[in-house]
Amino acid sequence: MGSEGYLINQFICARSNTRYDGWGGSYENRIRFPLEIVKAVRERVGTDFIIIFRLSMLDLVEQGSTHDEVVELAKALEKAGVTIINTGIGWHEARVPTIATQVPRAAFAWVTERLKGEVSIPLVTCNRINTPQVAEDILASGQADMVSMARPFLADADFVNKAEQDKADDINTCIACNQACLDHVFKGKRASCLVNPQACYETELVIAPATAKRKVAVIGGGMAGMSFAVTAAKRGFEVVLFEKSGALGGQFNLAMQIPGKEEFKETIRYYTRQVAQANIEVRLNTEADSDTLRDFDEVVIATGVKPRFPAIQGIDHPKVIDYQTFIREQPELGGRVAIIGAGGIGIDVATMITEPENQTLTDWLQDWGIDPT
Ligand SMILES: Cc1cc2nc3c(=O)[nH]c(=O)nc-3n(C[C@H](O)[C@H](O)[C@H](O)COP(=O)(O)O)c2cc1C
Ligand code: SF4
Repeated sequence: MGSEGYLINQFICARSNTRYDGWGGSYENRIRFPLEIVKAVRERVGTDFIIIFRLSMLDLVEQGSTHDEVVELAKALEKAGVTIINTGIGWHEARVPTIATQVPRAAFAWVTERLKGEVSIPLVTCNRINTPQVAEDILASGQADMVSMARPFLADADFVNKAEQDKADDINTCIACNQACLDHVFKGKRASCLVNPQACYETELVIAPATAKRKVAVIGGGMAGMSFAVTAAKRGFEVVLFEKSGALGGQFNLAMQIPGKEEFKETIRYYTRQVAQANIEVRLNTEADSDTLRDFDEVVIATGVKPRFPAIQGIDHPKVIDYQTFIREQPELGGRVAIIGAGGIGIDVATMITEPENQTLTDWLQDWGIDPT
């Protein structure tokens, strides 16, 4: 673990290594720590054992390693007995996003590519590789010898099996929201996944067959409604899913329109497909009422959140608009816009108003001050 600004990385960079003994000062001294660790590990595990070193190839903080230093360390690591080098991108302290949803897919594969040819051991690239096709493209282009993934396996533990069976459309895709994995870890909570609530709860949230066959109505075809409907149907309940609008997906249909949050469409794709494959009757353009619900044994409400209107004088003025209407209808705005509420949605709306759509990777890198040369 020689990256992310953890201990080994702290020894490597002048930013944090202020020692004046044999472990600090020159670069040669600063990389003594990782090299001694690798040598000692190799000595203990023998030759028939894989050691992967995660090398911080782009620290993204001031006084991080230069590319030439990364090359020097990579070569020394190979000599010290490392089998495979993995790519680390950015310290946790870095202000540049490295895995958030707005980071384009495979945005840092070029970093690994720059090290190709410098060492003869395999190089692994990572970060925001979330579909089999993205992985395939990297390997085909020769940017790296291998790819690694972390969060995609929280979103779908069967990722590899499904990829092998050519069922990419059945993979629940990691949308890089960080909401239930990293955000939880940093609060000392168990990691899980926003799009797969069973992640890390596999032994507790066990989906057992239903003991009685009941008719269940689900009101609302957003993520929660669809996810519930699929699970209930798998358990053997008879499920009817009511959706007032003409399409499934609920407010994810709004989220996916925010520049940088395009990944949200993958969750709609996945759950819509799951609903189609399960034994569920979907009634679009249908508002459930007491007559339609009379015949059901259970009714599950999954109608989503509604915008709150603060009690401000003039809140009913025509120039006031809620975020759902704004994103859905995208009306022409005046030159000056006030957004009330600086939570996630407030920021999303601000982004939508100010950010250009369909940024290329080059635009994105430039935006964040990353010079790939
Ligand atoms: C819950 C969680 C914990 C992580 N812990 C570490 C860690 O201790 N060391 C590390 O190098 N990377 C850690 N990572 C980062 C992953 O190794 C990986 O680099 C990153 O998530 C980007 O890849 P992905 O887009 O495939 O998730 C962690 C990621 C998650 C989601
Ligand atoms: S919560 Fe799930 S979808 Fe969101 S980033 Fe984490 S693993 Fe990916």
